[in-house]
Amino acid sequence: MVGAGSVIPWGPAVPPRWCGRRADGPRRNGERTMRAVGIERFGGTPQLMQLPVPEPGSGRLQVAIETAAVNPLDRAIASGSLAGLGEYRFPLALGMDGAGTVIAVGDGVTRFRVGDRVFGQFWSRPLQFGTFAEVSVVQETPAFGALAAVPDELPSREAAALPTSGMTALGAIDHARVPEGGTVFVIGATGGVGTFVVQAAAARGIRVIATAPARLAEQVRGLGATEIVVPGAQPFGQALRGPAPEGVDAVLDLVGDRSLIGGVAGAVRDGGALISTAFGLDEQFLADERIRTMNYRLDRKPARLTELTGLVTAGTIRPVIGTDLPLEEAPRALAGGVGATGLRGKTVLHVR
Ligand SMILES: NC(=O)c1ccc[n+]([C@@H]2O[C@H](COP(=O)([O-])OP(=O)(O)OC[C@H]3O[C@@H](n4cnc5c(N)ncnc54)[C@H](OP(=O)(O)O)[C@@H]3O)[C@@H](O)[C@H]2O)c1
Repeated sequence: MVGAGSVIPWGPAVPPRWCGRRADGPRRNGERTMRAVGIERFGGTPQLMQLPVPEPGSGRLQVAIETAAVNPLDRAIASGSLAGLGEYRFPLALGMDGAGTVIAVGDGVTRFRVGDRVFGQFWSRPLQFGTFAEVSVVQETPAFGALAAVPDELPSREAAALPTSGMTALGAIDHARVPEGGTVFVIGATGGVGTFVVQAAAARGIRVIATAPARLAEQVRGLGATEIVVPGAQPFGQALRGPAPEGVDAVLDLVGDRSLIGGVAGAVRDGGALISTAFGLDEQFLADERIRTMNYRLDRKPARLTELTGLVTAGTIRPVIGTDLPLEEAPRALAGGVGATGLRGKTVLHVR
């Protein structure tokens, strides 16, 4: 086995198609280049680019990306709204979540070796070489993200769909502190985070009431929800009076629409929790002393990725992938131009 500080570009662990690209791939001024979807500056429109293949510096891995997944976070990075959080270099290949094979390691790397399959949220410092690219370079312990070995047998397509949404779901549930047998109401259950929340909460013995359009109700029930509230039929607070006349232990908001949240805060029992991953709680909600309120930002990522990996390996939860696209379609996915016929779940990008 090859250890830290080494490169085996032609070794058997390197995907054969990648070997082909390394041999014949386009060159710019003698430099090897790759396909990536990125931006030249904050606020720029994400587009397909030909960028130099990044080399791994000290403490970093060079990863041949097989599959990446799209998150609202990618849009936020591209817009510049998170410019104050982290450190960025341009041109910047977008993409936080991905899965692939380590093809080279920099000096001092100890956690991974060439040939390892890895997945995670590749949020390194500085951020420049994201997962919407044929090759990413990531810190072996990402400054703002988390990286782990892909469990045996887990396809890259599924591994890539897990990190940001799955970790966020677990974190939001933890902070909600709903006891086994308690009830949670999930607003936005059909999306990336929501499909994990429903499964993970149900697996903890929590009764899940979830929003979903009528046509998707059976699928959300299949994830573990016991009752479905159809948005638009009636205000959520009113809709909850039937299934939860005593109120719910927690509301998890994954949409961020204040008019929706306002209607359901009153349905939370005294001492219960109202948590928004979409930063939908304003000062008024946050000042509420009757219940615990929080705009939740993903925390404890390495520990949450470990927990998530365990749940997937045990077959307790699985990623719901609504759409598969080639890398070239990333700009359209980021622009919100991709629909799903069934559950929205995750949109994954096939890079190779
Ligand atoms: N704070 C953090 O650390 C963190 C981490 C991850 C995500 N987030 C945030 O969490 C939120 C959810 O993320 P995500 O990845 O799950 O996004 P997503 O995949 O786009 O899912 C959002 C879901 O909300 C549904 N929805 C939209 N409007 C609705 C409404 N009025 N009523 C009921 N459902 C509605 C959508 O349904 P349709 O499919 O029908 O449109 C979609 O399924 C986003 O705001 C994201 O930025 C925050």
